[in-house]
Amino acid sequence: MDNDTINPLLIPKHVAIIMDGNGRWARKFNKERFFGHNSGINAVKESIDISLKLGIKQLTLYAFSNENWNRPKKEVNSLMNLLATSVEKEIPNLKKNKIKLEIIGDTSKLPEKTKVKLFEGVSETSGNNKLILSLAISYGARQELIRATKQISTKVKKNIISVENIDENIINEHLYTRNLKNVDLLIRTGGELRLSNFLLWQISYAELCFQNVLWPDFKKEHFLNAIIDYQARNRRFGKINK
Ligand code: FPP
Repeated sequence: MDNDTINPLLIPKHVAIIMDGNGRWARKFNKERFFGHNSGINAVKESIDISLKLGIKQLTLYAFSNENWNRPKKEVNSLMNLLATSVEKEIPNLKKNKIKLEIIGDTSKLPEKTKVKLFEGVSETSGNNKLILSLAISYGARQELIRATKQISTKVKKNIISVENIDENIINEHLYTRNLKNVDLLIRTGGELRLSNFLLWQISYAELCFQNVLWPDFKKEHFLNAIIDYQARNRRFGKINK
């Protein structure tokens, strides 16, 4: 399959991906889970590459959930190292391709080394605008909404915001994703049919695409299939067809 089957006028602006299946992929080879996470990096690079080629403007990847902190320490540490080293290694490529890196999530929980490397990537790419690559790390949608609620309540208490003025825009401005559009297309690999606390507010009108492929096996054809699937959907946003 090639890009010819894609309608260039109907490219989703914001694609979000739940990258699931690394552990099961590793088990198939009798290897430790980390082998799967490490191999998942190729699929990350391929997804970024296709996003650039198709003209997708925002790509958000679920790299580490708030709940993932409950995994064994060894796996958490290896993921934290992988995130830091991958971002550090990719900075030249991000710059070359005009990609702006953003991190969404509770970064206060990250080990110092990981935090430093990630934010080096963020600051080195802050002037770019071809693609916003957001990595959701230590991210949970419920925690994001609790945080926003606390911030808004504090502003109400200080008379900066009045209760009557609270609307979708005010909520959006207090989310980690304040610089991003609503998600158009959400892809989940790994065969599970759930959302796992990912961008619950932002996906309200997203098209959902669940794929039965383990993340390290996710290739260009899977991404293109998801886009073709998306382009065939009838997005009505609660209205009726004209
Ligand atoms: C879910 O699979 C995957 C993760 C928790 C980690 C995903 C992270 C990466 C692919 C690295 C990303 C790196 C960058 C720089 C973006 P799982 O472990 O839950 O798999 P399972 O469901 O088969 O057990």
